[in-house]
Amino acid sequence: MQLDHVRSQFTELFGKGEAAAFHSPGRVNLIGEHTDYNGGYVFPCALTLGTYGITRTTDTGRLRLASANFGASVVEISLDGIEPNAQPMWTNYPLGVVREFQKLGQPLGGLDLLVAGDLPNSAGLSSSASVEVLMGVVLNDLFGCGLGMVEIAKLAQRAENLFVGVNCGIMDQFAIAMGRRDNAVLLNCKNLEYRYIPAALDGHCLVISNTNCPRGLAGSKYNERRGQCEAAVEMLREELDISLLGEVSPAEYEAHKHLITDDLIRRRAEHIVYETQRTKDAADSLSRGDLAAFGKHMNASHESLANLFEITGSELDALAYAAQRQDGVRGSRMTGGGFGGCTVSLVEEAHVESFKHNVGASYRAATGITPDFYIANIGSGAGRIG
Ligand code: GLA
Repeated sequence: MQLDHVRSQFTELFGKGEAAAFHSPGRVNLIGEHTDYNGGYVFPCALTLGTYGITRTTDTGRLRLASANFGASVVEISLDGIEPNAQPMWTNYPLGVVREFQKLGQPLGGLDLLVAGDLPNSAGLSSSASVEVLMGVVLNDLFGCGLGMVEIAKLAQRAENLFVGVNCGIMDQFAIAMGRRDNAVLLNCKNLEYRYIPAALDGHCLVISNTNCPRGLAGSKYNERRGQCEAAVEMLREELDISLLGEVSPAEYEAHKHLITDDLIRRRAEHIVYETQRTKDAADSLSRGDLAAFGKHMNASHESLANLFEITGSELDALAYAAQRQDGVRGSRMTGGGFGGCTVSLVEEAHVESFKHNVGASYRAATGITPDFYIANIGSGAGRIG
């Protein structure tokens, strides 16, 4: 995307004068799915694809917001009247963040903002969290709020939970705020301790494949899975002193799983326990440069999400299994919330073209849908760029 183009669009909408530029990435999770709200580990990286924001303060006490992705029409709101829009409007993402700054007593003022993103929407690459964290860094910078990036990530998550009404974990906002170029972030979601691990891919690249399948029931199923994980904790607490499933090791789980009397709840718990362990093991493999082992963990993760957590669906399965069969593919799995969205595959560079061709054909034959492919470049976290 051309920043100059976004700047001139901003001038058309809001008039000439100085304006600051910000960028906030999307994210792809390499492994560790649905573990964040269970206090387990995740292993995401920030993408170079994301959201640009051009902005300036005004003395009007009002916010004027526009998105190039949604027709660039200006939505104007007084800072005194920030309420969630009952319709699923894109403005709920930045406004939820404004509300959280206000709750902290931060002195905000009028603002004009144009956002423009190059992430596909509803693809599970966190275009919404990208806008939230963008708003966080914009307000923090322009109004001198002095918040750190981890605080901004937590605040953006609260905006999503309380204002947008999606009960997500911390992974997306954290990866977007704290991402580092060419690194993945191993994050312990229980205490937010994190470690950067260089994504030394040694002649391989990460290919993101989009099912182009709308994530229809994603919201309600997401909350349902959360409830099932909480139910498992309740049952295990009869003998284990835990508050989250991510605290349970595989050995402890095996010794106590009989406490989970419901078969479905046990499968959900089993995914979380083993996925947490797998995420730590996968991060170790990557740091040792063992891409074959890393790829096996990716495949095992998909298998567990398909059979135990049951959030893949026929499109994600068709795409991941077609990828796993290709030459030069170390591993492939769904990424993000599930029920549509994208897969991520670790593919030898020399095989990328045949990968796109063969996986595209196989997925089209299975589903009738044409997928999209992107090479994931790992970018830095959100911040000011001009
Ligand atoms: C969505 C949520 C995240 C995380 C993933 C699944 O992306 O926003 O918090 O739970 O799903 O790993």
